[in-house]
Amino acid sequence: MTIEKEYTEGRTTFLSADIEHYSGGKKQPTASLPVFYNPRMQLNRDLSVLFLVAYMKRYSMDLMCEPLTGSGVRTLRYLNECPGDFRAILCDANPLAVETAKRNIASLGFSNRAEVVHGDAKVLLTTESQEKRFDFVDVDPFGTPAPYLNAAIQSMNPRGGLLAVTATDMPVLCGIHPKISLRRYGGLSARTPFTHEIAVRLLNGFIYNVAGSNDCSMQPLAVLSTDHYVRTWVRIEASPEKANLQASEMGIILYCPGCMHSEVKPLTSTVRDVDFAHEIAGCSGLVRIAGPLWIGDLYDTKYLSDAFDLLSGENPQIYHRRVPNVLERMMGESSLTDRPYIDIHALCDLHNLTPPKNRFIIERLKDQGFKVAKTHFKPTAIRTTASGYEITKIIEDYQMR
Ligand SMILES: C[S@@+](CC[C@H](N)C(=O)[O-])C[C@H]1O[C@@H](n2cnc3c(N)ncnc32)[C@H](O)[C@@H]1O
Ligand SMILES: [Zn+2]
Repeated sequence: MTIEKEYTEGRTTFLSADIEHYSGGKKQPTASLPVFYNPRMQLNRDLSVLFLVAYMKRYSMDLMCEPLTGSGVRTLRYLNECPGDFRAILCDANPLAVETAKRNIASLGFSNRAEVVHGDAKVLLTTESQEKRFDFVDVDPFGTPAPYLNAAIQSMNPRGGLLAVTATDMPVLCGIHPKISLRRYGGLSARTPFTHEIAVRLLNGFIYNVAGSNDCSMQPLAVLSTDHYVRTWVRIEASPEKANLQASEMGIILYCPGCMHSEVKPLTSTVRDVDFAHEIAGCSGLVRIAGPLWIGDLYDTKYLSDAFDLLSGENPQIYHRRVPNVLERMMGESSLTDRPYIDIHALCDLHNLTPPKNRFIIERLKDQGFKVAKTHFKPTAIRTTASGYEITKIIEDYQMR
């Protein structure tokens, strides 16, 4: 018999295998945990709840699917914390997880709205959607979501739906294994100081390709990046016309480690456009290539502000402490995603400078007429219309004072 513990996240209390008991006193799950639940993913689930409520303000939701559910916590939270009476189908290949999720669904009184299936995620997505397609699919696997995305997109309602995807294979997406990234996500990853941005863009680019091959478009609503995973929320619509237009949102990112200059190039650009202007005179560093990947917007600002507004009606204590700050930073950076963020500490390392406070650089850049915002991707990074060269000048002037 599984030794269980009661956990609470958001407004939802549920049972799952006792992590400390099965993981030798650790607070994080290990392979010996009979049913998967990771409390460190609460930020991911908190934002997922808020984004689903924001999404439901604009689009109808009748049926959702979580094909890799573990303890069921994610869907339990959707059922318990989002409005409406939508139904849910949950699935897991682990029979103990199915048993746990079923009991959690029953004890919270959702048996009439949710069904838990024991089986393979891809098979479930294909078979369960034969009768009625899903308005929302949440793909949250171990490692890469790539094998599930074709079935997920094919299972979605042609009038449009929300697709949320987590990827935890960070060494692949962040440039340690660029060739695996190419075969898994259709684009090379690269080691850069903005490697997590490349990770989310590779994931979005792959979703664009899979959606496009099914005559669907994909519109990003939000992305989340932390140390150990990335997550994206996109709207999928059956529209080859929109998908055709979005071809110009696919491109490559070029990066020179010698001067830290980067350039974003649409795949649809002409060869002449591929000129690369190094920022340090005489720098002839070899330019790294990431992509093809998604180079378009990462956020829908209205969607973010709707999610943020929901916080004022809630007790903030129920969410992870980072939620308000992450949402604020997402809103701030949402209009500045046409180029990668710049990591001030990495720039200072390159030029042997001591980094001043980000606040100082942000004020100077604003004084000089540049647009600038903090980014949720990294505390030491900013997004700006200024170049790395212009930021370096500000830091050098500051240190000469
Ligand atoms: C990362 S966990 C899911 C966590 C959950 N979504 C949450 O928010 O807590 C991945 C789950 O996928 C299940 N799984 C792995 N391969 C599967 C497959 N092919 N089909 C269905 N479930 C699978 C595992 O048993 C595990 O419970
Ligand atoms: Zn260079």
